[in-house]
Amino acid sequence: MKILLTGAAGYIGSHVLKQLLETGAHEICVVDNLYSGKLEALQCLEKIAKFDFIKLDIANTAELEKLMVARRFDAVIHFAAFIEVAESVAKPLKYYLNNTANTANLVKIAIESGVKYFIFSSTAATYGEPESGVVSEESPQMPINPYGASKLMSERIIKDACAASKAKAGANGMKYGILRYFNVAGADGEIGQNYPNATHLIKVVCECICGARESVSVFGSDYESRDGTCERDYIHVCDLASAHLAVLEYLSSHESDVFNVGYGKDFSVREVIECAKKVSGVDFKVLDAPRRAGDPAVLISNASKIRKLTSWQPRYQSLELIISSALAWEKKCRNLS
Ligand SMILES: NC(=O)c1ccc[n+]([C@@H]2O[C@H](COP(=O)([O-])OP(=O)(O)OC[C@H]3O[C@@H](n4cnc5c(N)ncnc54)[C@H](O)[C@@H]3O)[C@@H](O)[C@H]2O)c1
Repeated sequence: MKILLTGAAGYIGSHVLKQLLETGAHEICVVDNLYSGKLEALQCLEKIAKFDFIKLDIANTAELEKLMVARRFDAVIHFAAFIEVAESVAKPLKYYLNNTANTANLVKIAIESGVKYFIFSSTAATYGEPESGVVSEESPQMPINPYGASKLMSERIIKDACAASKAKAGANGMKYGILRYFNVAGADGEIGQNYPNATHLIKVVCECICGARESVSVFGSDYESRDGTCERDYIHVCDLASAHLAVLEYLSSHESDVFNVGYGKDFSVREVIECAKKVSGVDFKVLDAPRRAGDPAVLISNASKIRKLTSWQPRYQSLELIISSALAWEKKCRNLS
């Protein structure tokens, strides 16, 4: 297949790129403006197999259209987006323009240039603060911040545009696979999360272990949860990456669909911290802090659908493995042994 990946110099996209290259079965082109993505990640993956990289902002629709019309991709996997929830509250238009408006333009060009499959990085943040902590793909989506809203609107645009494309072109219409990621963490070894000022718990904890931060804050200890701290469903980035390959394969013989991608298992903030101390053998300072607005007490995927319908087989389903791989990557970035 000829596949276009947007935003694959970033954390998740680079892991998907690596697995696609390892199959040796695809002709791949990456576009990324390197806003947060790293050229080094792409350079590191060049040794697996050849692929094209074009430094391009997807807001540049003229160049994007030229590329997509000339190359006639079979599939697009769309990661490019801004991802900081707090920033999205302060600068909502930055998020609606990059995450939603740019997605609408990309979808339009994809359909017009004959793309068959469109895979989209969505998020558990589209569910907002669900009443029950466990959400299936049919659970109500009520995002509580502009980041989640920008992704929910993109989902709607993709669904409507693909439905219209199918109504017009029948079997030649574009199909979508929407993946709602839960809490992504861990690293592959050679590539990993390299985002400055990250707020993700496991990344913060690893920075603490490496001495790059003084302490970890626990935002809220009075939630209705096992130990009073928030519970989340952590998924290893390599398993998340393989879900993209499984969904792409699924779409070749099935209709469009939406999939939660998590393990359906929850860990509290304190459990993650304790596990990180055990895995690393390092004790670090933990501070109690007030709740943050918009953090649901419990958010866990019912992810039975992707396991039932696709060939996806997670291989790294262990919090120890997730944390130890994230820590190894953090140490590698900081030249620590
Ligand atoms: N990290 C998570 O926990 C998480 C959870 C749920 C969903 N997601 C989604 O997964 C996707 C990838 O996230 P990530 O964690 O890898 O983030 P990331 O910031 O590492 O990757 C995003 C990539 O997109 C690129 N990019 C951004 N805007 C662009 C534009 N206009 N044109 C071209 N390139 C652009 C960046 O340079 C970067 O390489 C995003 O769509 C995000 O919303 C991430």
